[in-house]
Amino acid sequence: IRLAVLYGGRSSEHEVSRRSAASILAHLDREAYQVTEVLIGRDGQWQVDREPVTLPAALAVLAAQDVVFPALHGPYGEDGSVQSMLEWLGVRYVGNGVFAGAAGMDKAVTKKLLSAAGLRVAAGVTLGPGEFLSRADQRRLGLPVFVKPARAGSSIGVSRVDEWWQLPTALLLARGADPKVLVERAVPGREVDVAVLEHPDGRIEAGPPLEITVPPTSAFFDYSAKYDGGAVFQIPAELDPATTRLVQDRAIRAFHALGCRGLLRVDLFLPDPGPAQGSATGDGADGGDQNGNGPNGNGGGAGGDGDGWVGDPAEPVVNEVNTFPGFTSASQFPRIWAQAGIAFPDLLDILIAGARG
Ligand code: DAL
Ligand code: MG
Repeated sequence: IRLAVLYGGRSSEHEVSRRSAASILAHLDREAYQVTEVLIGRDGQWQVDREPVTLPAALAVLAAQDVVFPALHGPYGEDGSVQSMLEWLGVRYVGNGVFAGAAGMDKAVTKKLLSAAGLRVAAGVTLGPGEFLSRADQRRLGLPVFVKPARAGSSIGVSRVDEWWQLPTALLLARGADPKVLVERAVPGREVDVAVLEHPDGRIEAGPPLEITVPPTSAFFDYSAKYDGGAVFQIPAELDPATTRLVQDRAIRAFHALGCRGLLRVDLFLPDPGPAQGSATGDGADGGDQNGNGPNGNGGGAGGDGDGWVGDPAEPVVNEVNTFPGFTSASQFPRIWAQAGIAFPDLLDILIAGARG
């Protein structure tokens, strides 16, 4: 099988993609695959097997493959753009298609689709370029909040705001990655990731939940906790069987809600019990403000932005999804499947066998 691994890319997760690709390349069965490495530089310059090539030459190489494995994270790679190019080339590729990639890349859009499917998401407001958080929304969300670029990954541009005076700096940081930002109410609770894998026969499986413990040196599971080692993963997470089934069910529902294929990592919070979050207090009834923000700031309609959640207070909150999750050998997705008995090379075989065009 002629297989090209496509990696690098123009996003701020370029370096992470290089690390994902390095472990994919190290674990591919070289008897089964005739491998070509295709690198997209940060500047958009392409290389094939480490030789600089023109874009038309790179596209001709991709078109000649049996399968392309896009190991790209972030915009211009994970967001459907490269997948669209592969569709035009008529080549089969691993993982999510154009729609799921685009929807999963934009956290505001992801939340709308997940809410519409009945999943619980954090209360939040989406701010376009130049928009600021209204007083009404500050009161509604409370502190702390997380400020995030809508379309980025690996926590780049994300920060926690514990006092409102920190908000302008946090917005500036997030807007360095994307002019569209989310301000979200923090969800106190345990952080759990669920990996979803589609087998070549169409069976969709959720792996054992992974719990993340953030090192005391990090305020949250940020870039350094993700890649400088420090965070501790417990697989399987110590959850009772009912909670395990619950988070697995929610992850599979998220997979379907976004029209995914191949794989998805769903990151959730298990909210601490207690009166936190204000979800049962009806604070979603806050009026909107003159900026058009307010209860529907995330556009979800009734309860659509996670406020006004009237269901079980223990319902897991879906924080975000990753249509091409980190694939370094230390990353959650391959480690979850290794724990479930699917070794890295076998995981790659499953994904490649399920490639579609
Ligand atoms: N966006 C990074 C790669 C992740 O979530 O794993
Ligand atoms: Mg992510």
